[in-house]
Amino acid sequence: MKFFVHTYGCQMNVRDSEAVEALMIAAGHERARSEEDAEIVIVNSCTVRQKAEEKAVGKAGNLIAAKKITGLMGCAVKRMGEDVFKRLPKLDFAVGPRCFGLIPHIVDRITAGGERHVIETGADEVPDGIGAHPDSSKSGASPFQAYVTVLLGCDNRCSYCIVPDVRGHEYSRPANEVIAEVKSLVENGVKEVCLLGQSVLRYGVRNPAWRDGDPNPGGFKEAFPRLLHALNGIPGLERIRFTSAHPKGCTDELVRVYRECPKVCRHLHLPVQSGSDRILSGMGRRYTRDEYLSAVSKLRTLDPGFAVTTDVIVGYPGETDEDFEMTRSLMEEAGFDNSFIFKYSPRPGTRSALLPDDVPVAEKERRDQVLLADQEKRGARRNGLLVGSVRRVLAEGPSKRNPARWSGRDGGNRIVVWDVKEGVVERQGSLVDIKITEAHPQTLIGERI
Ligand code: 5AD
Ligand code: SF4
Repeated sequence: MKFFVHTYGCQMNVRDSEAVEALMIAAGHERARSEEDAEIVIVNSCTVRQKAEEKAVGKAGNLIAAKKITGLMGCAVKRMGEDVFKRLPKLDFAVGPRCFGLIPHIVDRITAGGERHVIETGADEVPDGIGAHPDSSKSGASPFQAYVTVLLGCDNRCSYCIVPDVRGHEYSRPANEVIAEVKSLVENGVKEVCLLGQSVLRYGVRNPAWRDGDPNPGGFKEAFPRLLHALNGIPGLERIRFTSAHPKGCTDELVRVYRECPKVCRHLHLPVQSGSDRILSGMGRRYTRDEYLSAVSKLRTLDPGFAVTTDVIVGYPGETDEDFEMTRSLMEEAGFDNSFIFKYSPRPGTRSALLPDDVPVAEKERRDQVLLADQEKRGARRNGLLVGSVRRVLAEGPSKRNPARWSGRDGGNRIVVWDVKEGVVERQGSLVDIKITEAHPQTLIGERI
């Protein structure tokens, strides 16, 4: 049957959806070009904030009447459990984020046996298909970029965050399995991999990722830098990215990898959440403002062009104007290249949901707008420093707005756009050198050299 997966949420969800596509194709189904064209529609849901959950669940609701089979997968399923069928009485199946591998079997049970309301919420299992990648000609995936899940779940337990409840305890995939997966992707044309985990620098902490006797030519003590070093040695692989990082994991060994491994992109997404020590401690983040800033300065000492991006929550319970101004000044001191601002949303079952959500909506909105405006200026300023320099860019394809231009990303994950010169044939997935001539808050414009 023809299926379509509609994805909400983070890169982890994007990757899980891809794995589901691979499993569905292996089971004999075919990917539809659009959801209109599909007989089975699966919505992959997020629940990190209430609005995110409403969007995904609402989408599934809208699709139900028109489709033969509708399923919901991902984080919101785990949070809602059986209640999902109260909310969506006509939903056919629901599957949690650690057991999406069951989807093809569930689809069989529904089509063959007419079962309805099938639900598997799962616990801490490793989903079947965690390493399955669809052939890019049969899926929506890029032929030259790939996500690879290395760490499942999260054990950080920040006060506001529902992720540990929905994605379960941490499990690090064996390093040899990850390395084999990356090698096979590279054999199939992949140039850039992005390693995924909620807190990926905790790779190998809860369960060992390396076996005794595995090679360790760099002499690393920490599992994640050791993995990066090993992947850096794979011929044909051009770039290694990873996300997301907890500031605690920004160790000297990680900095050493940035120095020694040229394929590891000099970009770190390092969510800070707040610049006020009082709020950071309430959130259970386990670092101070100064510790965070010194992690950033280690990276910028290595390379002033090192791209650091972040997530910030505004309106956490008890956040005063003074706390907020501390966040503002931290963002300025850190000189973030980009930032994502979120309005605090209490999530059921988290520690902070027991505190009064006492920052008024209008004040959250104001703080959001202030930080966005600051970032706009800072982004233009940070990008302005690159005018005149040459950036190595992975060419992604014609720009959406103007097909006479191509766009791609530099190592810092900055979008770079250039005019295609007459007689030059650009190729997707190739590395090109672009001299930057113009800077905008979110993009760089340049010329091919
Ligand atoms: N409310 C608002 N933002 C949140 N985030 C996580 N939980 C919440 C919440 N309850 C934000 C954090 C995290 C990003 C993915 O979402 O900033 O880094
Ligand atoms: Fe959303 Fe978090 Fe789940 Fe990603 S892990 S989909 S951000 S709830």
